[in-house]
Formats: sequence, structure tokens, C-alpha cells
Amino acid sequence: MKVIASQTSLNEISEDALIVPVFEGETALDGALAALDHLTRGAIESLFEDKEISGKRDQWTLLRNAGNLSTKRVLLYGIGKRDAVDALALQRFAGAAIRTLAPRGARSVAFLLRANLNNTQGAKAIIEGAIMGQMNSNLYSSKDEPEGEIELLHLVSESPDAPDFTEAIKTATVMAEAANFARTLGFEPGNVLTPTELARRAEEMAAREGLRFESLDEQQMKELGMGTLLAVARGSQEPAKLIIMNYEPQDADASASKELIALVGKGITFDSGGISIKPAEKMEEMKYDMGGGAAVIGAMQIIARLRPKVRVIGLVPASENLPSGRAVKPGDVARSLSGKTVEIINTDAEGRLILADAMTYAINRGATEIIDAATLTGACVIALGEVRAAIMGTDQRIIDDLVRAGEECGERVWPMPLDKEYGELIRSDIADVKNIGNRTAGAITAAYFLKHFAGDIPWAHLDIAGTAWTEQAKPYLARGATGFGARLLATYVMNRAAQGK
Ligand code: BES
Ligand code: MN
Ligand code: ZN
Repeated sequence: MKVIASQTSLNEISEDALIVPVFEGETALDGALAALDHLTRGAIESLFEDKEISGKRDQWTLLRNAGNLSTKRVLLYGIGKRDAVDALALQRFAGAAIRTLAPRGARSVAFLLRANLNNTQGAKAIIEGAIMGQMNSNLYSSKDEPEGEIELLHLVSESPDAPDFTEAIKTATVMAEAANFARTLGFEPGNVLTPTELARRAEEMAAREGLRFESLDEQQMKELGMGTLLAVARGSQEPAKLIIMNYEPQDADASASKELIALVGKGITFDSGGISIKPAEKMEEMKYDMGGGAAVIGAMQIIARLRPKVRVIGLVPASENLPSGRAVKPGDVARSLSGKTVEIINTDAEGRLILADAMTYAINRGATEIIDAATLTGACVIALGEVRAAIMGTDQRIIDDLVRAGEECGERVWPMPLDKEYGELIRSDIADVKNIGNRTAGAITAAYFLKHFAGDIPWAHLDIAGTAWTEQAKPYLARGATGFGARLLATYVMNRAAQGK
């Protein structure tokens, strides 16, 4: 989707459709609506009269060939109360409007930036929502007619004093394209997106965007001593990979700085549970258990394009988790790269095992702070649902910055505690730590397990099990993978670099 911006008068808009946000409680006499009413010879007022539009969220109507307009369609779409319209509401609004128009034949759309939307924050939210709303999940559908695609989005300012949108267009496009890239990885079925294929896609991205790419195979992991990662990989015929993407700023000072942000994402391309096998119901959804890895790969694409002044390393331990005659068994003990031994009580608590070795590897590579993202626990889904990801960690500054970054980009997170009493639940009789606690506080005991491998390095963990996938299609988003985390991690890194760290 190409995005342009200009100040154009309503009657000169020539795109296939014009999207007009309608606020709840306004009348046909307000601002642009009055002008539009005039051009359509009273159509707007009569729609208000008949209560066909009210501005209520997601209530919409479509005018065709109305009055003196050059555009063929006007989509009047409710956005809700004016003061409740924040960045997230705008993203969703734009996504929903695009999803309404795309199947109705529109190929180019104009978006009217009404009064309080006519700023760079508003433009960014609209662009991101539109690009993400455009995407569908039917990667493998072979029906003849593809869903309509919108090729051009034209942001139209009502007033001549519109800001310069060049930067907003670039940033928002970069953010949304990476989120969609992460979503594609989440949608891909496990038979296609194996650890090898995930590494190939990351490598392809890295080569295109100018990131240095490396990957470790099982032999190299064995030589290094990545025993917990390899324990998970044992049950599968598909070889595990450790995907490594390096970003170096051009800025000499930043490049010489010892500061190195490590982003670590769980890349389980299919989680059957292993010997501690999961029930069949919904098991197919466990193809998205690489959502944290997708978020990191997506974030690295954003970072490569926006070029912050800070060094970043992206790590994705990738494996399947399957049962077999060679698979790791409950009660087995594995030695991690850190030297800590782990009693594997439940083979379905595999994410923490692969993350542990990747985190130690990040530290060995010189990471000065670590943020991991993982579809780690069902308990997190129970606690926070699809709305917010959980955040826990050892460094309040990172946690606060991630909370802020979340509010800014619309990928929201919520803190959970990590008191040492939770750590008692994962004490092992035979090894240094065990990989599960009891039934209580599952998201926290999982995070506590990771804390063992963060060492003294400032660290925060995002449990995105609930937010990485949407059970139901939304007006603004297809059902399935959400790409959650790509924009959040990148926003965090951009802000951190802007702070001059
Ligand atoms: N990948 C799952 C967590 C998950 C569950 C993600 C539902 C998304 C939706 C993870 O590997 C897992 O199986 N966790 C177990 C841990 C348990 C055995 C302590 C869980 O949450 O049930
Ligand atoms: Mn599992
Ligand atoms: Zn898992």
C-alpha cells in the first residue's frame, strides 16, 4: 500500500473511495460534514435524521455517486466519542474502514484527517491500522478471485496548515510492514515454517535490510553446551537453529559504545507438548508458538530501516517440540549453557528451556540488557487475555520504558511481580532448578525460571501468549496472528536510542 498526503478540497478527491470518520454526538453541521453535506445536496443531514449514522464505533454507511463529488464512494464510518480517540482507537478505525472497502472494489482510498486527527501521531496510527487491516490470513487459499487489495492510501488534510507527513509516513509504513511480516510467520503452518525455514526467512530479511546474519546448527550448539535448547529439540526430526541478527549503527559513537540491547524471541515452530503431550483441541494453534521469535525478527527489520543509534542483537532459538523415542522425558536433567542444571518435570514447559540458553548466549556476546518475548504460558492468557502482554523482570527502568512504549504504539503490557517467594516453587531436589512450579502463578514461575539465566544483566520478559493470536476476527484485523511485539520492541529501542543511551 503506497501512502501519500496532501491538502485537497473535498470535491477534488479522485480516489475510488473517501473515508470520513464520524464522531459520536456530532451533527451534520460540524466541520467537514457540513461541507460534505453541501456537496452531496443534503445527503449527510438526511442520514443523521434517519439515524443511519450516529458516530457510534463501527456503525457505517456507504454513499455512491453522491452529488458533486469526484470520488465514487464515501464511507461514513463511526469512530466513537471524540475525546476517546487515542492512537489505538485510530489504528483500529483505519483497519476497520479498510476492511470494509477492500472487498467492495476500492483500489485507492482517501482518508479525511478531520480536525483533531490532522497531526503526525494521528497519521501514523491511521497508516499502521490501514496496512495491518489490509492483511488477510488466507495464505494458502486457492480460490480464483483474491480479496481486493488497496494500493493507494491518500491522507487528506482539511486545513492548509497540515504538518509535513513525510516522516510519519515512513515510520508508520516501516512499523506496519514489519508487523505484517511477523503475522505472516505466525500464520504459516508448522510443516512449512520449520526452524530451518524460520532461519531462512530471517536470513532473507537480514540480507535485504543490511543486517549481519548468523545461525548456529545443532552441532555448534552441542559444542557450546546448549543442553536445555538441545533437550527440547531431541524429539524432532527437524534440526533446531539459533538465529542471530546483528544491527550496527553507522554513528561512530554509538557503534563504539559497549551498550548492546539483546532481543530474544521464543521460536517454537510447533509445540505439541512433547512427551507431556497437549490435548488435541486447539493444538493446531501451537504453530504460533514462534510468536516471540517473529516479534524479534520483525523488530530487527524495523530497526534496520529506521537506524537507531544503538547496537542491537536479535536472537531466536528455534525448535519443534515433539514426542518421539528420543525425546526428552519428564524427570530428565539437562545442563544449560550457563552451567546451571535443570530438572525437566514437564516437557511442555519448553519455551523457557530454549530461552535460557539463548539468554546466556546473549550475555556471552556482550549484551548489556536483555528483553525476551515469548508465547510462554497458558497462565498468562488466563490472567490478561488477549488485551495486554505480561511484563516481568529485574530492571525497573526497562519495565517502565516498555510500559510506555506499549502505550505509545498500541501494544500494551502490564506488570506482574517477581518476588523471591515465587522462586521457591521451582526449586529442584536433584538439580539447580526445575522447569515448572505448581498450578499457581504459572506466568510468574516461568519468568522466575528465566531470571535464573539473566544473571546480573538488566532483563525484562514479555509473555505474549495471549496477545500474539486473536481467537476471533476483529473489524480491524483478521483472525489469528497479530504480530504483537514487533512494534513494541522496536519502539522501545528507538526511544532508548533517542534518549542517547
Ligand atoms: N506454548 C505454550 C504456552 C501457550 C499456551 C501459548 C496457550 C499460547 C497459548 C507453552 O509452551 C506451554 O505449553 N506452557 C505450559 C506450561 C506448563 C506445562 C507449566 C502451559 O502454560 O500450560
Ligand atoms: Mn509447551
Ligand atoms: Zn510452547
